[in-house]
Amino acid sequence: MPETPPLLDSYGRPHADLRISVTDRCNIRCFYCMPNEHVIFQERSMLLTFEEIERFVKVAAKLGIRKLRLTGGEPLVRRELPVLIEKLAKIETIEDIALTTNGLLLSRYAQALKDAGLHRLNISLDALSAEKFERITRRKGFRQVLDGIHTAQAIGFEKIKINAVAIAGLSEEEIVPFGHFAREQGLEVRFIEFMPLDAEQNWQSNQVLSGEKIITMLSEAILPLVPCPRPDPSQPATDYQFEDGRGRIGFINPVTQPFCSTCNRLRITAEGQIRNCLFSQEEWDARSLMRKGGTDQELSELIRACVLAKKAGHGIHSEDFHRPARAMYQIGG
Ligand code: 5AD
Ligand code: SF4
Repeated sequence: MPETPPLLDSYGRPHADLRISVTDRCNIRCFYCMPNEHVIFQERSMLLTFEEIERFVKVAAKLGIRKLRLTGGEPLVRRELPVLIEKLAKIETIEDIALTTNGLLLSRYAQALKDAGLHRLNISLDALSAEKFERITRRKGFRQVLDGIHTAQAIGFEKIKINAVAIAGLSEEEIVPFGHFAREQGLEVRFIEFMPLDAEQNWQSNQVLSGEKIITMLSEAILPLVPCPRPDPSQPATDYQFEDGRGRIGFINPVTQPFCSTCNRLRITAEGQIRNCLFSQEEWDARSLMRKGGTDQELSELIRACVLAKKAGHGIHSEDFHRPARAMYQIGG
């Protein structure tokens, strides 16, 4: 059989990683992502069905996609998510399936997700106190998320990562507790710099709490952090460990240290629009193509066209930067 040519963009970056949003709905309202009220969601008929997602992934897998991540909105509000995972896990060349969830429904679904073939879990949690959690998410549920994390650990998910968005003026007092949490729970805590993808468009560059500052805070309060070896150079996170080997801390610094030059990600939104970047202004309409009877060959060409049009970087710091029209929950993190 001929080797599949890699999915290369015009800068030579091979694309092996697909992030699939399964819904734009969510059961909380993080201010850095969603509007608080009057959210307009996609109509159900606009969302890709599980069969359409499966077809898309099969075609993408032939082009070299090896890793999948399911995102939202909150993916677990799409009922029957384990059914989708089971379908995707059967695609032979898919090596890794991960899920990013806010953890609220995790206690209920963790076992079914594991049984369906999910490999890895990232759980979003930005604060270790109920009060701060509610300020950020504008909803209740802190305890429920902690329960979700513990259930996932208890049923044997390994290498669970906690995603914490770091926001200047809000997150400072959470940093050290998170350092201890990582050490005590045997989890990796990853701090993500706040990006201009909030629906309410209030992002200001001075609200970015940089990874570098967090390293200093943790090293001073707990123990020096030392970098871990990087097994996968296309991974955006830089991982550290406390000097005594206990507690892993990761940093995703898209604002202060953009990693676009090694980006290998492609995204598809819940309504089947292919995107080559979180910040791209353009989308390629896989849903229409599939629903009007397009062939796998045409779908394959659409994916290639999207990858080929990928820009060198997100350009957040350039003067002519324009935010994408969509906010995070409409793209998929
Ligand atoms: N900036 C940085 N991270 C964000 N996320 C959502 N919105 C933003 C933003 N504006 C994170 C979520 C989740 C992941 C999918 O993306 O907290 O962990
Ligand atoms: Fe929901 Fe995730 Fe957006 Fe928070 S960041 S509102 S959990 S989709």
